[in-house]
Amino acid sequence: MELTDAMRTQHACRYYKPDAVPEQVFYNAVEAARFGPQGGNRQPVRFLIVTDAAKKLQLQEWYLQPWKAYFEAASSGQDEILADSGDVKSTHITMTNPQKSLADADNFADHYGEHPAIVIVLADLEDTHPTDTDLGRLSIVGGASVYTVAQNFCLALRDQGVATTLTTLLCMFEPQVKELFNIPENLSTAAFIVAGYPEKSFPTKLFRRPVEEMAFLDSFDRPLGQG
Ligand SMILES: Cc1cc2nc3c(=O)[nH]c(=O)nc-3n(C[C@H](O)[C@H](O)[C@H](O)COP(=O)(O)O)c2cc1C
Repeated sequence: MELTDAMRTQHACRYYKPDAVPEQVFYNAVEAARFGPQGGNRQPVRFLIVTDAAKKLQLQEWYLQPWKAYFEAASSGQDEILADSGDVKSTHITMTNPQKSLADADNFADHYGEHPAIVIVLADLEDTHPTDTDLGRLSIVGGASVYTVAQNFCLALRDQGVATTLTTLLCMFEPQVKELFNIPENLSTAAFIVAGYPEKSFPTKLFRRPVEEMAFLDSFDRPLGQG
């Protein structure tokens, strides 16, 4: 498929068919994803594809703990969660139905361990190259050697008709996850990507901030595309 079509329709899929995704499809996705850029080309990323039913259910049990707390806060309006359910705070975007997005994410959580596969994205942090650790704020650069490859992976699956949702709540359970899967000491959990064939067709439109609100030319008072 067209690269830009894949980029524009690679959504957070909440409903999957029960069909297994063949191992070859995951192989193809990693084969393409590995070409993502990494600082110093040190290649810190590893993928662990989980299809074992009992292990997925254990992941669900852990996932539901932070999710339900998050969901309850969001449902009662105590939290900024709606930003994560698609209600981007923008003057131009209004999510048509943020409560439905939240309900869909809750349903997705309730069935977390039943989705066809959960792909654990791992990284050797020694092989990331953070250049912003002395700025007195949260470091972000190290992740750039990991999530580029993770997004490539999602796009390569999208190209093969497989939908995904990147999740991070389970990173809270990194010690338990590492023990369950015999993950080597040097690797950290970066994301848990749920993958499967979508129950419905892929969306044609995702809700995102318009270009003019996120890109500027030469100065922040000059939005890109204003001539
Ligand atoms: C870094 C990151 C962490 C995320 N973590 C979770 C998560 O733990 N649980 C979840 O249901 N969705 C998670 N998401 C999915 C987002 O909610 C989703 O990408 C966003 O709402 C946009 O959805 P859309 O692409 O379908 O429009 C995460 C996405 C990203 C990029």
